[in-house]
Amino acid sequence: MKVLRGMKDIIPPESKRWEDLIKKAGSVFSSFGYELSITPILEEEELFNRSVGSDSDVVSKEMYVFSDRSGEKIALRPENTASIMRVFLSGDFRGKVFKTWYWGPMFRHERPQKGRYRQFFQFGLEAIGDNSPYIDAELIYLLDVFYKKLGVEAKLEINSIGCKDCRPKYKKDLISFLSNEKLCPDCDKRMINNPLRVLDCKEEGCQKVVLKAPVLSNYLCEDCRDHFLKLLNILDNLKVNYKKSERLVRGLDYYVKTVFEFTSSELGGRQNALGGGGRYDELSLQLGGNRVPAVGYAGGIERTLMMMKENVGIENILYLALLNDELIDKFLPYALSLKAFAYDKNFTVINEFKSFNIKKHLEKANKLNASFMIILGEEEFKNSKLIFKNLKTKKEEFVEINDLETTVSEISRRIIENS
Ligand code: HAM
Repeated sequence: MKVLRGMKDIIPPESKRWEDLIKKAGSVFSSFGYELSITPILEEEELFNRSVGSDSDVVSKEMYVFSDRSGEKIALRPENTASIMRVFLSGDFRGKVFKTWYWGPMFRHERPQKGRYRQFFQFGLEAIGDNSPYIDAELIYLLDVFYKKLGVEAKLEINSIGCKDCRPKYKKDLISFLSNEKLCPDCDKRMINNPLRVLDCKEEGCQKVVLKAPVLSNYLCEDCRDHFLKLLNILDNLKVNYKKSERLVRGLDYYVKTVFEFTSSELGGRQNALGGGGRYDELSLQLGGNRVPAVGYAGGIERTLMMMKENVGIENILYLALLNDELIDKFLPYALSLKAFAYDKNFTVINEFKSFNIKKHLEKANKLNASFMIILGEEEFKNSKLIFKNLKTKKEEFVEINDLETTVSEISRRIIENS
């Protein structure tokens, strides 16, 4: 049996990096007041038709849909913003800004390639209930901090795509310009359903055409222009680097005003977006609620991990080497309380309940890329000592075996000191 095309198992040792990324996301996002939400992977198909848009590629070409056993039309979520808005509209969040983050699998039936999968994972943040450009700026600032903490070089591109008041005039002028130009077959269709998408077509011919197209920023109404200028002004104040990108539009239909992407040229090719987001002030209306302004972002986890330096956030491994089977029972309380102690520290304890000779232990520790080793043989145990070895510097020191608590904290102290 094989895993489905475009999907993969995330298993050790790779899963360690996932664990680390999620841990960091949780701690950074919650320090900015975003709390975790977990929503179902399956939703009514209608939710995405009405939010992401039935003409968008994501819904019309890529969404996994099926009828369940009672005949309901179900979709595997292609994204999570619509679900979070559904949560907001069905809960009682009035009178406060609902700031939430999530992570989990999304599904899009695309042609798989590097950085593009059919089951992929996103982390995301949504702030619902605030109009102000300060909330857009805070979100962008937070993401900038987050990518820096991960050691990922991410470039920010930003644009405003206007609102239902100013966009129609632009669309009209864009269509009349495009109708005289030669476009790729996809854009010939997009021009009718979603002409803004022509602006970010990756086909060379379309890109040339687009260079001469009317520019959206000249059409923004006063409200959209003020919002955008204020946002750029706040980002300047915060010293966040960005590139204004006149042609940045997004593939999902719910956006108004601010749109932005973090990209990395190192990702290469057409999948250079680490993530994207923007304002969706009209989405609540599309889903049958009152108008509630909102802004959010989602990043691709696989793409982020591809850009993370290998050693960022990898925990230290402490390998326990017992040279004699008789020591297993004697050392067991120390080994297990070291593990219990390590749970929120920056190290992991690994051992086997077996003894080997030191050469074999060193081979095993090497394979695990362990940083530290504790060696315990008959001789050491008799003298109430164990050996603490730094595997990177090869330096060895004795640690007294005392009562459980003292010994464990002495070993931990040395790990922290040597890390
Ligand atoms: P999106 O641009 O469709 O936005 O997806 C966000 C990110 O998910 C992309 O930039 C990319 O890193 C990753 N991604 C998308 N499709 C794939 C794929 N097939 N394989 C691997 N990675 C992929 C959204 O989904 C919006 N919900 C973002 C948002 C949140 N807007 C407001 N709030």
